[in-house]
Amino acid sequence: MHTSDPEPLALLADVNAALVETHNIRAGLQRALQILAQQRRVLQASVVLKSPDSSRLQVAASEGLSPEGQRATWAVGEGVTGQVVEAGRPVVIPQVSQEPTFLHRTGRRKRNGRSDTSFMCVPIPDGQDSIGAFNVDLAFDKNRDYERDLRLFQVMATMFAQAIRLKQLIEAERQRLLDENAHLKEELKERYDFSHIIGTSGPMRQVFEQISRVASTNTTVLIRGESGTGKELIAHAIHYSSARAKKPFIKVSCAALPDSLIESELFGYERGAFTGAQARKMGRFELAHAGTLFLDEIGDINLSTQVKLLRVLQEKEIERLGGVDAIKTDVRLVAATNSDLEKAIAAKTFREDLYYRLNVFTIFVPPLRERKTDILLLADHFMEKYAAEHGRSVKRISTPAIDMLMAYHWPGNVRELQNIIERAVLICDASVVHGHHLPPTLQTGEATGTFTAQSLSEAVEAYEKDMIQDALKTARGNRVKAAKLLNSTQRIISYKVRKYGIDCRRFRS
Ligand SMILES: Nc1ncnc2c1ncn2[C@@H]1O[C@H](COP(=O)(O)OP(=O)(O)OP(=O)(O)O)[C@@H](O)[C@H]1O
Ligand SMILES: [Mg+2]
Repeated sequence: MHTSDPEPLALLADVNAALVETHNIRAGLQRALQILAQQRRVLQASVVLKSPDSSRLQVAASEGLSPEGQRATWAVGEGVTGQVVEAGRPVVIPQVSQEPTFLHRTGRRKRNGRSDTSFMCVPIPDGQDSIGAFNVDLAFDKNRDYERDLRLFQVMATMFAQAIRLKQLIEAERQRLLDENAHLKEELKERYDFSHIIGTSGPMRQVFEQISRVASTNTTVLIRGESGTGKELIAHAIHYSSARAKKPFIKVSCAALPDSLIESELFGYERGAFTGAQARKMGRFELAHAGTLFLDEIGDINLSTQVKLLRVLQEKEIERLGGVDAIKTDVRLVAATNSDLEKAIAAKTFREDLYYRLNVFTIFVPPLRERKTDILLLADHFMEKYAAEHGRSVKRISTPAIDMLMAYHWPGNVRELQNIIERAVLICDASVVHGHHLPPTLQTGEATGTFTAQSLSEAVEAYEKDMIQDALKTARGNRVKAAKLLNSTQRIISYKVRKYGIDCRRFRS
């Protein structure tokens, strides 16, 4: 640049503005090169950056470059540009025509009738490394102050580096947030989506049908069923498939709260409402605003709270303890109980008027013993879930074990099944859950019923067949190995294979 060239600070300020103006790094670089070309007599300028996997150098932005030149790529270390990136040191070639090793890759050559050109290439730094290079072609001029020009381009390269770094950080952070968001949404769906309620039995289908019918409304729902049948799961499903899904789902465990606390939990209080009320507290009703309030074990709330609850349901407004103003609420109520509310009404421990307010739409969740066809599905589901969670390779539940699960009466319902399968997965040392992995309550003849339905010899044979098949599977159909695994002889195994009609070819893979 000649001494008559304009002030470099003005150029740098404009370049900087172009880089911060856009979030798209290529557009920012492109604009910066345009400004350079407008304000200085440069023939060509380009920014070359490493590809995402750092294997090649590619043109990210350019001015005055031919289309072939824009498409050119180099290996790091290849040509002048590649060497600049590799060594992290600039190269200045005052007279390209005098430089035999110069790579004419980007169409840079002495054109007929044109005067000679000068070439400068400075690394774009990233700590100790370079992430690319900044190339500039200028008309050759023996009076040019190459030192000064080099310094200017180095400052520009540093500005490019900072802009790129910043945008990479922003992009990485944005990507992280997107990933996290997708992950959380997936998790939420997994936890509460109603497709995660397992069951295809008639009674469960009816439950699903009821959920989808009531979810979209604002109707109060009462969920009734024995302990462990999945009432809470259903309450979640109603909320997450309703229009309130993005608003809060607030749960109150009525049985877990002492009488003295339940009202302040539900309705909140004003500062000074009672000794110890040092600050105002929002109640769960307020927290659930626009969402769903789930009152779990509603059969356990005391009579005085029942009165207040009834009033809230009628008036659709609440009063904080010690407060004077009523607060409007928009809350969808879902309640659950495993207690016999009709009996409680007769015993005068549950108010009949509240019962009628709650009993608008009732979902009865059947006990597990009344939906036996779901047992196998649920057992498989929990087996897969806990095998994955505990890093076990449990793949299957043996037929005798299934029979035991089917025969049991499940007083603790799905929760009990879930616990039993988790325990079985934990104590099971192979890939199959056998009867002996199940707890003693399932082992008794009375509980299992297996031996009343089958004779002893039938049961033993079923078990034997099961074990032989497992061994053959492990031994990939090899009877000698299977015999060893079972501590038996090949002759006995071959005999049993024939006896039970086992097809060994099935296990060869
Ligand atoms: N149909 C189902 N599919 C998958 N998991 C289920 C199903 N039903 C229940 N579970 C699981 O069983 C456990 C008990 O369910 P939940 O807590 O909903 O029962 P509950 O009826 O609220 O019991 P309680 O009356 O004791 O509070 C939970 O871990 C739940 O995820
Ligand atoms: Mg519950």
